[in-house]
Amino acid sequence: ATILVLNGPNLNLLGQREPAQYGFTTLADVEQLCTDAGKRLGFEVTCLQSNHEGVLIDAIHQAGRGVKDGSVLGVVLNAGAYTHTSIALHDAIKGAEVPVIEIHISNVHAREAFRHHSYISPAAAGIVVGFGVDGYVLAIEGLVRKFHKS
Ligand code: DQA
Repeated sequence: ATILVLNGPNLNLLGQREPAQYGFTTLADVEQLCTDAGKRLGFEVTCLQSNHEGVLIDAIHQAGRGVKDGSVLGVVLNAGAYTHTSIALHDAIKGAEVPVIEIHISNVHAREAFRHHSYISPAAAGIVVGFGVDGYVLAIEGLVRKFHKS
């Protein structure tokens, strides 16, 4: 089965964007880390980044169809700022019935108050926050441990 690693708005700027918050690792490096982590665990990893809410929603719907036909295990999602605004992403996760691990590179709870609330969290199967880009690997491991029936 495949694991989808889905990154939302502004995460294409990883490595150059606010390095004090997000570090110097680029999105390409993150995607490679994820592919390697998946391979170690016996899963193929597909990566997608979009700055557009609807593209993220479509990808979650498609992953949901994959979960039903057994081709997809679940999604690791960093929804970026849509985390704090998007009821539509919340509804997409619920509607698609897809296991989602929410991940944030920074510890959002140690930052501005507007980052403390997540519309993703109540629909997520698990949450990884504040471990830097290693969080993506932890999220993949968590997804496999929680949902892979071996
Ligand atoms: C983020 C945290 C969000 O608040 C922010 O809007 C991002 C990145 C993180 O990975 O720490 O774009 O999701």
